[in-house]
Amino acid sequence: MRRSAIVFGGSGGLGAGCVRALARDWPAVAITYRAGRERAEALAASLPETCRGYPVQCDVGDAASVRAAVEETSQVLGPIGCAVFSAGCAIDQPYINQIDEATWREVFETETMGFIRVTAALVPLFRAQGGGNFVAVTSMANTRAIVGDTISAAPKAAIEALCRGIAKEEGRFGIRANSVAPGAMNAGLGEHYIAERMTPEFWESFRKSIPLRRFGLAEDIGEAAAFFASDRASYLTGQTLIVDGGYTL
Ligand SMILES: NC(=O)c1ccc[n+]([C@@H]2O[C@H](COP(=O)([O-])OP(=O)(O)OC[C@H]3O[C@@H](n4cnc5c(N)ncnc54)[C@H](OP(=O)(O)O)[C@@H]3O)[C@@H](O)[C@H]2O)c1
Repeated sequence: MRRSAIVFGGSGGLGAGCVRALARDWPAVAITYRAGRERAEALAASLPETCRGYPVQCDVGDAASVRAAVEETSQVLGPIGCAVFSAGCAIDQPYINQIDEATWREVFETETMGFIRVTAALVPLFRAQGGGNFVAVTSMANTRAIVGDTISAAPKAAIEALCRGIAKEEGRFGIRANSVAPGAMNAGLGEHYIAERMTPEFWESFRKSIPLRRFGLAEDIGEAAAFFASDRASYLTGQTLIVDGGYTL
């Protein structure tokens, strides 16, 4: 059966890396965007001829919008076999004691609740079609605490817990759920941090603290996500793959 993939947050830096990698294995990939329609359209147009890229608007903060994106994708591209979740808030890196309740709510609402909405929309479809899988882009900051990163890490910890729960409960229906945990990236949000925050000396020192001596690229995350999404990972579920050049060691 012809199956499609959908990347929530496909218009983002890491989401785009996931789309490009999935495009090698999947005949069609839906690229969701919230505000970045032009980025999603340009990405879709750049995919190889063997993969149809399809931009679709979606606000993961709204269950009806998630359901509509899933329905539109299924109708246009065929049944969904994989959903990558890479939607996330463009947040600063505040100390925990500087974070107000509204900000906490915003990140949990978009990221954790967003992923819950995605799984709520797709688990029944995956069950009905005999399987499917989720890949969540999370954060290595749940393995090695990073100053200023808890606002990003905490919702991802919940997402990883959800993946393990789905893996355990839904495995008998052929459903898998795994996470890819990026380290320090020179892509997406990380690219902005490197360009705008701290000093070049700070980032050079940071780079040298990474065993592989470089920041991660969107392609590094995409490769891991595409692997989990593929049949090559058919016996892997409930796992988190840390893609960080060894930084958490
Ligand atoms: N890049 C890093 O350094 C890094 C490191 C560790 C973890 N992460 C995590 O990886 C994930 C992706 O990060 P990124 O660097 O790719 O960020 P990004 O470039 O800012 O992209 C974020 C994506 O999320 C989408 N989005 C935001 N709010 C949304 C909403 N309410 N509904 C639907 N989509 C929404 C954006 O859509 P539009 O742009 O179309 O509005 C965009 O596609 C985030 O959870 C981030 O915390 C990133």
